[in-house]
Amino acid sequence: MQIYDTYGRPITNLRVSVTDKCNLNCLYCHKEGAMEDADGYKDKLKDSMTPNEIAKVVEIASRYGIRKVKITGGEPLLRGDILDIVGKIKSITGIDEVSMVTNGVLLTKEITFKLKEFAGLDRVNISLPSIREKSYKFISGTSKPGETLRKVIRGIKYAVDVGLNPVKINMVLLKGVNDSEVDEAINFARENNAILQLIELQSINVDDDFYRDYHYDMRGIEEELKSKSVKIVLRDIHHRKQYFLDDGSIVEVVKPMHNTDFCMNCKRLRVTFSGEFKPCLMRTDNHVHFLSALREGNMKRVEKLFLKAIRERKPFFQCPAGCIH
Ligand code: 5AD
Repeated sequence: MQIYDTYGRPITNLRVSVTDKCNLNCLYCHKEGAMEDADGYKDKLKDSMTPNEIAKVVEIASRYGIRKVKITGGEPLLRGDILDIVGKIKSITGIDEVSMVTNGVLLTKEITFKLKEFAGLDRVNISLPSIREKSYKFISGTSKPGETLRKVIRGIKYAVDVGLNPVKINMVLLKGVNDSEVDEAINFARENNAILQLIELQSINVDDDFYRDYHYDMRGIEEELKSKSVKIVLRDIHHRKQYFLDDGSIVEVVKPMHNTDFCMNCKRLRVTFSGEFKPCLMRTDNHVHFLSALREGNMKRVEKLFLKAIRERKPFFQCPAGCIH
C-alpha cells in the first residue's frame, strides 16, 4: 500500500541518519536538521539505533510504500556496523534502492567493494565542495587538505569502479569561496563518470551573517547550464532540474530555499539516529519520538507513530496565496 500525506504527497523515500558523528567539520553543515530541540539534542547522543532497530523501522515504512532508503549522518562510514545496516535494509521486501551520502574520506577500496557486493548498496552521493586544497580546507575544516582530498577523490573512483550507479558529487556553492570552480567541477565529474549536484546553501543551522556572506544565487549558473544543454530533465523528487550538457556532462541543481515546488514534490520522511521521525528538514519542533516504543518491542505503537509523523508533514515553503499545485 502507498501512503500519502494530507497534501496528497506520496511518501516513497526514507532518509535515515545513522550517526551524528563526523570526521569533517563543514562550515555549512546542516547536520540533517538534527539541531537543538526542546528536549536537548545532547541527551540523545548515546542512543544511536542498532542495525536491527533501524531495520525494524524501515520494515514498517516499507509496508506503507517506502521504496528507497538513503543513509546519511553525520558520516555514516564512521559506524563500524555500516555493512550490516545497509545489508539489513536492502534485504527488506519492498525496498528497491539503498543509497548513502558520505564525505568519501573513508571510502577505501575494500569498504566500497563490500558496500556494493556484500551489502547491496545501489548508489552514493559524495560531498566534495572543491577539488582545490585551499577551498576544501576552508570549507571542510580538515587540517590535512591534500591527504583528505586524495582519499575522497580515490573514493569517488572506487565507487564508480565497483558499479555504484549513479555516483553523485555534492557541491554546496559558497559565494567567494567555490563559486568560480563550477566549470572545473563539471569537468572533474564528467571525467570520473559522476553526476555533479550543485546545491544552494540552505539557511538551517547556519547563522544569518554566514548566510548573508556566503549564500550564492544560482540563477546565473542555471542560465548558463540551460544554454549549454542538449536536454533538460525535471526529476520527480523535489522537481530538481538535471541538465545534460553538449560535452556529455550531467549537472543537477538543488534549490530548496523558498521553492514551493521543492516542498510540493517532497516524498521523503527522515529518521534520526536517535530514534525519531522527522517530518521536515527545516523544522525541529515536530519530531516524533519512537525509540522507547521500539525498545519496548511495541511495534504497533511504532507503526502508529510513523503514521503520526506522516500526518505532521506540511510543506515548509508554501506559495504566498496558499495554493497547492
Ligand atoms: N546547505 C545546503 N546543503 C547542505 N549540505 C549540508 N549542509 C548544507 C547546507 N547548509 C549538503 C552537503 C551534503 C548533504 C548531505 O547535504 O552537500 O553532501
